[in-house]
Amino acid sequence: MSNTNKSPVLNPEQTGENSTAPMDFKSIGEQVSASYGNIATRYRSDDEIEVTTEHHRHLRGILGTLSSSFGRPITTLDVGCGTGRYFYCLKSVAHLVGIDISEAMLNIATTPVKQNEISVKKIELHCANAHLKSFPPESFDLIYSLGMFGHGCPVTIELCNKFHDWLAPGGRLFFDAVDIATLPPWHRVRRQIRRSIYPFLPQRLKHALDQRTGSVPFCGLSKRDLEKIMRASRFTDFSVSSHVCQSPLWRGLHLECAASKPFMMKQSQQHS
Ligand SMILES: C[S@@+](CC[C@H](N)C(=O)[O-])C[C@H]1O[C@@H](n2cnc3c(N)ncnc32)[C@H](O)[C@@H]1O
Repeated sequence: MSNTNKSPVLNPEQTGENSTAPMDFKSIGEQVSASYGNIATRYRSDDEIEVTTEHHRHLRGILGTLSSSFGRPITTLDVGCGTGRYFYCLKSVAHLVGIDISEAMLNIATTPVKQNEISVKKIELHCANAHLKSFPPESFDLIYSLGMFGHGCPVTIELCNKFHDWLAPGGRLFFDAVDIATLPPWHRVRRQIRRSIYPFLPQRLKHALDQRTGSVPFCGLSKRDLEKIMRASRFTDFSVSSHVCQSPLWRGLHLECAASKPFMMKQSQQHS
């Protein structure tokens, strides 16, 4: 019997560094959706502030370069598109599909920031959990995801493999994730201790600890964790870098991952 809602993930809050724990994507997704439902209107007004920041200019530059690098109109997927903060940054995009787990965020994405600067010809919005969603293979030239990985949404090998399948040959992937180094040192030490002892705890104590951790787990990860996930995925060409984000709305460290799918796949990769 397949269980599409549960999948092994690196979840440093609840597991040892090299161990994996099942994560219930459906119920965590419901909590994430509810939490963004409460803040969607404020998030949209924050878009107006965020677009003036250096951090946003950095990401706008990357998206503009990536989307125009194909030399032809492309099809793009924005995963966890929220209120559509990055729609106006895209160039030469004929068709944009935005998915998000929060209906409230998606409703607002119909009137995104800098709407009159959007050059995308067609925008389609779908309410969906990225971990559970499927698209036909080779549907997109460019897939990006900004701000989604961290709060209740982990980067997993399975999701990276989906991105790989959904990309057309020669396609590009770009996403960011919260760097675990964002946490204050004492918090990291506490997590480290918890991670070391967690696998040896009896089930009852594990359960109590999971409850204390909260319903929406923090899914930040280190550069090493992310590189390990990418190496285990079907992507062979990728790079991970760390960036300081100094927006007035959020200060911390982000990991940024850029990857591409080759035009010609080796036979072994096609069937793995
Ligand atoms: C911090 S917001 C970022 C929104 C937008 N990308 C931006 O940068 O402004 C995170 C978004 O990811 C969405 N999200 C979180 N987990 C998700 C999941 N598993 N599948 C789809 N969307 C998800 C949330 O609903 C929220 O809209």
